[in-house]
Formats: sequence, C-alpha cells, structure tokens
Amino acid sequence: MKITAAQNQNQRKIADYLIIPFIEEKKKPKPLCAIGKFSNIIKGPIQSKDFEGKESQISVVYGAKEKRVILLGLGKPDKIDEFHISLIYSEVVAFLKKRKAKTVNIIVPEKLNISKEDLLKGIAEALFLTNYGFDKFKHSTKNEVASYLKSACLIGVEKKELALVHKGKIIADGVNLTRDLVNNNADDETPQNLAKIAKSFEKISKKVKVIIFDKKKIEQEKMGLLLAVNKGSDKDPAFIIVHYHGDLDSEDHSVIIGKGITYDSGGLSLKPSTGMDTMKSDMSGGAAILGTMYTIANLNLKVNVTALVPATENSIGSKSYKPGDVYVGLGNKSVEVKNTDAEGRLILADALSYAVEKLKPNRIIDIASLTGACVVALGEDVAGLFSNNEKLAKDLIAASNKTGDHLWRLPLYKDYKKQLKSDIADLKNIGNAREAGAITAALFLEEFVEKVDWAHIDIGGPCFLSKPKGLHPTHATGVGVRLLTYFFENLSIKPA
Ligand code: BES
Ligand code: ZN
Repeated sequence: MKITAAQNQNQRKIADYLIIPFIEEKKKPKPLCAIGKFSNIIKGPIQSKDFEGKESQISVVYGAKEKRVILLGLGKPDKIDEFHISLIYSEVVAFLKKRKAKTVNIIVPEKLNISKEDLLKGIAEALFLTNYGFDKFKHSTKNEVASYLKSACLIGVEKKELALVHKGKIIADGVNLTRDLVNNNADDETPQNLAKIAKSFEKISKKVKVIIFDKKKIEQEKMGLLLAVNKGSDKDPAFIIVHYHGDLDSEDHSVIIGKGITYDSGGLSLKPSTGMDTMKSDMSGGAAILGTMYTIANLNLKVNVTALVPATENSIGSKSYKPGDVYVGLGNKSVEVKNTDAEGRLILADALSYAVEKLKPNRIIDIASLTGACVVALGEDVAGLFSNNEKLAKDLIAASNKTGDHLWRLPLYKDYKKQLKSDIADLKNIGNAREAGAITAALFLEEFVEKVDWAHIDIGGPCFLSKPKGLHPTHATGVGVRLLTYFFENLSIKPA
C-alpha cells in the first residue's frame, strides 16, 4: 500500500472514500478539521444522533467528490493515545476492506492531545497492520479472496512528515514478517528456513552479523536439551544467532531469545489432535525475535542486541526423546524429562545458558508460546510477564501499554520451585500438577539465568488467535515485535 500526503483538503485527489474525524462531546460530536463544504452532508447523522463520535463509530454519508464519506468517531479526547488511534483506524481499514475500497483519503485529526509523531505512527501502523492478509492458499474462486487497500492519502500532512509514517511502516513490516513466518506451513518454516531468513538480515545493515549453528556445532556446544527435543525429527535443529551492533560507544548489551519449535506434536507425550492443529505457531517467539531484529536494524536504533533462536520440531517417532529419561544441557544441569510436551523450556534453557555463559549480557528477555496454562490464566489478549528485576518489568509494562502488546505480570513464586525437584536429576521439566503451570515453567527457566536481569514473556495466548480481531486480520498476530521495538527505542534514549 502506498501512503501519500496532501497539505490541505483542496489538494486531495479523488478516492473511493473520505474519512472525517470527530471527537465525542456533550452536545454533539466535534469535527477535528475544517468542515467547510461538508457541513451539509454531515448534518443528517449528527442531528438525528445516529452519529455521536463514540470510539470507533462509523457513519457513511454521500455527496463529496469521493461520493462516500465516513464520519469516524475517536471517542472522548482524554482517552486518545497512540494505541487507541491505531485501534480506531484499524476498524476503519477493516470496514474499507470489507467494502472492497482501493483508495482512501484520510483527514488527519487536528488539535488532539498527542504528538503528531504518535498520531501518524498510530495511523500508519493501523493501515499497514490491518491491510495484512494471508491468502496465498485461497486459490479456488469459491473462497472469497480478501480485498486490500492500494493507497491512502493523509490530508493535513506535509511531505516531510511522511518520514513519521515511514517509521510506522517499518515496524508494521517487522510485525507482518513475523505473521508470515507463523501463518506459513510448518513444513516450509523449518529451522533451516528460519536460519535463512535470519541470514538475509545481513543485507539490511553492516551492523548485523548472523551466525548459524548447525547440528554438528550444536553437539560441540553441548546443547543437550535442544538435541534431545530434536531427536524425533527428520529435520536438523538450528541455533540462530543475530548480532546487532548499533551503538559502538556503549558496552550495554541485551540478549533476546525466542522459542523456535517449528511444530509441536508434543512428542511421545503426544498432544490430542484438538490441541495440535495450531502448533505450527509454536515458533511464534522465535518469529517475533526475528521480526524485532529486522525492525531495529531497519530503524537503525542505537542499541546493542543479540537475538538467539533455538529451533527444532518436536516430533514423534522411534528416535524421539523419552519421558523418564535424563538429559544434560549446556548449563550442565541434568533434567529428568517427565513430559516431552514441555519441550519449549528445554530448548530455552540451552539458549539461556548460552547467553549467560558466552555473551554476558546486561539483560535477557525471552519470549515463548510456553504454556497452555498461561492461556487459561490470561486469555488471548494478554501475555504473561515474569521478571527477576523491577526496572526491566516496569519498562516492559510501559512498552506494553504504549504499543497494545498487552502484558500482565505474574509472580515467580518461590515455593512452587519445590515442584521441580527430581529424584534422579537436578530438575524435572514439569511441576506436580496443572495448577500454576505458567509459573512453574517460568521457575524452570529461572534456574538457568543465574543472576542476570531477566524477563520471560509467555505469549501462548496472543500469538495465534482463535479468531482474528482488531488490528489482527489473521490468526498470527506478530505479538512481541512492537513491544520489543518500543522497549529498545526507549533503551536507546535513556540507557539503563
Ligand atoms: N506449545 C505449548 C504451549 C501452548 C499450548 C501454547 C497451547 C499455546 C497454546 C507447549 O509446548 C506445551 O505443550 N506446554 C504444555 C506443558 C505441560 C506439558 C506441562 C502445556 O501447556 O500443556
Ligand atoms: Zn509442547
């Protein structure tokens, strides 16, 4: 989709729709732009109170040169921030897609209490995120193929301000890259393919260096837990390392880790088929990490970040790792595998040990579709956050509020650690019961981070929606990319 700018209404070209923004006020909705020639055509719905300017309210009237004019409600002005703007405009884009509109003129609201930067970024993100689709497999004419916007003109915007829109586009591109990786077939998005995508980031910037560990190297590194999970798969594992060195003057260095289970059958502790049909999404954490690296490299952020993605399928077969057996990973801790479906924490453990021992970072953030228990606790709108550090947790919550990748902090409740005791090994990989399963998973990971500042984000709920909604027109949402990008943008402004 192309986005252009027109300084004022007179300079706009004809389009399928025109959007006029309103805020909700006591007596009647107030337009946030010069209304001049439109006063006649907007009268009806306002006088009849059919249109009150409520958040995301849409009324269509006819008569301007675009023929169709949308009165768009932004709601009460005190509630409006970048996140609400993106939600509201995503509703309009969804409406336009349904109506098969190709072009739209958007009058950018004036006199709002948010910066033009946030406003344009919010609108741009809504346009690019909601205009996303995944219909490469919809060949048959019977399947309704979605319609997409081809261009949008922002009215009341100087050409030079399009740079702000460009930033929104870069972020949305990162989210959409993540969505594609998750929506694609598991048989296509293999560990090797994820590695290939990561490698391609070297073309974005000289600040990016990518190293891929193949199976042999993973064996040399003694990543015994990643190797255990990989045993049943006919595809080799990959350990993907993406370095982004954006701040040569600083020693500050973050590591981000994403779970890269390209398909989770559960292994010998096989999932029921009802729990398996969404499990191509079990590399959502890894995909979010790749989308984030793509974005921060394209934004040229002044930060130093290394991304790690341990990637493998969790398959069933005669070679599969076995419940009851003990495996030892890079951190030299032995783990009794009581359930092969609790595989994410095993591959993350090796990545955490690698980060702690080899990279010595200032902080680690891991992101993973780790537990069904977290979905039960927080649903599909909210990801679970665990952290051993108050500032890191606070900064991530701030990023979550700003971007709409919602987080809710859950406790690393120490007493539950007893549940991870094994009779024959240092640890076992599950707790005693289903209760607090998100917490016991996080406590397992904590065993491998030692004293480093660390946060764990469980995206089991929001990574792959049962039904598309809001800014997310497909099952895969790309959750985490906007969150982490915002986090690093802020870190680059005021380092910890
Ligand atoms: N990939 C799943 C977690 C998951 C389930 C994410 C549903 C999103 C939706 C993970 O590997 C898993 O299978 N976890 C088990 C752990 C259990 C065996 C302790 C779970 O949550 O059931
Ligand atoms: Zn599993």
